[in-house]
Amino acid sequence: MIDFKTRSDQKELLDDYPGTITQLAVVLKDIDRVNRLLGGNAITINAVFRLIQEHPRKSYTILDMGCAQGNMLRALAKTARKRNIEVQLIGMDLNSDALTLARTASVNFPEITYYEKDILKADFSDFACDIVITTLTLHHFKNSEILDFVQQFTKLASIGVVINDLHRSAIAYYLFKVFSLIFIKTKVAKVDGLTSIRRAFRKSELWALSKSLPHVDHEISWKWAFRYVWIIRKKQQSSSYE
Ligand SMILES: C[S@@+](CC[C@H](N)C(=O)[O-])C[C@H]1O[C@@H](n2cnc3c(N)ncnc32)[C@H](O)[C@@H]1O
Repeated sequence: MIDFKTRSDQKELLDDYPGTITQLAVVLKDIDRVNRLLGGNAITINAVFRLIQEHPRKSYTILDMGCAQGNMLRALAKTARKRNIEVQLIGMDLNSDALTLARTASVNFPEITYYEKDILKADFSDFACDIVITTLTLHHFKNSEILDFVQQFTKLASIGVVINDLHRSAIAYYLFKVFSLIFIKTKVAKVDGLTSIRRAFRKSELWALSKSLPHVDHEISWKWAFRYVWIIRKKQQSSSYE
């Protein structure tokens, strides 16, 4: 019996992927199909455009931590173009092959720039931005690293942070097993999907983490299919002329 009471510390295969860039592209395509079918990307996009609506500005810089092949950034760029909103988009990841795929797929997106960085080690002080997003990346880290990580993001973003990650639950795990039989082709995506759910979060754990960031507003909501979106809003300084 699998125990879902606590987060698993099992490593994901993709964290140390020995395959070629062509094999990686196939796995990432598989993962992207899951995200699209289950509506995972839309959760981040909706949250980002809510923050944008709340803070009218001339343009927005959005930083994606753990961007992989850049799907989320291209989806954000397309939505921003449709809505006539100027954006500069920055993707960071430590996987150089994923970034090569990201750059190739983003040739028609001059608003996107990619950097190879380890989120745990990088100095982000040169990357001031309006919004930080991170999707399916938080669960890659240990509890002890997450707080540091989220505090850094909150410091960087002038408007807020959007974290989109999985809900750890037996139902999610077994439904994913069935789903993967039909919709997922690669073994890596099947195994990592299940490991991700075991590494993921309960709502109470996210709320407990949020208590360590008291000077911002937190909104944590459950979304289909077994995701949490955690929106951190910076308190805006009111003008001294008000
Ligand atoms: C499951 S993928 C999610 C990719 C993408 N955000 C998405 O939603 O499809 C997690 C990504 O986090 C990256 N990652 C893991 N640890 C990292 C670290 N310490 N620094 C930078 N990126 C990291 C991995 O390389 C991988 O591309």
